[in-house]
Amino acid sequence: MQKLVYKTYEQLSEAVAYKMVKLIIKKPNAVFCLASGSSPQLAYQYFTEKLINKKINYSNCTFIALDEWVGIPPTDSGSCHYFLQENIVKPLNIASDKIHYFDGLSKNLELECIKIDTIIEQNNGLDIIIVGIGLNGHIGFNEPGVSPDKKCHVIDLEDITINVGQKYFDQPTQLSQGITIGLQHFMEANEAILIANGLKKAEIIFKTLNAEINMQIPSTIIRKHRNASVMIDLDADNN
Ligand code: GLP
Repeated sequence: MQKLVYKTYEQLSEAVAYKMVKLIIKKPNAVFCLASGSSPQLAYQYFTEKLINKKINYSNCTFIALDEWVGIPPTDSGSCHYFLQENIVKPLNIASDKIHYFDGLSKNLELECIKIDTIIEQNNGLDIIIVGIGLNGHIGFNEPGVSPDKKCHVIDLEDITINVGQKYFDQPTQLSQGITIGLQHFMEANEAILIANGLKKAEIIFKTLNAEINMQIPSTIIRKHRNASVMIDLDADNN
């Protein structure tokens, strides 16, 4: 695992976008698993701009959503579906068979998990997984205490995740569970990138990099990944 620190959020985002584009040039049918949330938003903007401006063919790439709030419709601007649609799918005009989301409204969430597990398997695994980090160390919705051996699964959310999660929604929203890519998928991805910016993330980034690797802080598992980068701005760096 490498830690890469950038002076500004813009520089950090530029570096992430560069890695994403580089992957497509190397592997035109790359499989991306992408987080939603504030942290990767600017990187996605730079990524889509670069692909369009440089006329890079990304039509054979596959995109898979990292997670979703259970019970939230895709039309809700707070949903992960909506975020990826606005920030990746629409700007790139991605074909519907090249983007895969969890349906948070599904009556059979277990089947939703199997659906995404199968898509990952059929695509021979993830080439890259890009994640943010929760203040409790979650990646995706892999909350403290999660098993590292899980593929896609449904999980009860901690209060801190529910409270912080309100920032994505226009009005107070009842949240209780998430559906997410599991840590097994995360660890098996060819490359993992964790993005964090801002002072608020400094403490959990410090723990991610320095605490004993344990599932009370799920993000610590990234230190066991064979090809991972923790990419942060100066504000998120506590040394
Ligand atoms: C959310 C999502 C994660 C996201 C993380 C950080 O709850 N489940 O996928 O990466 O928390 O979000 P942000 O980048 O907005 O700080």
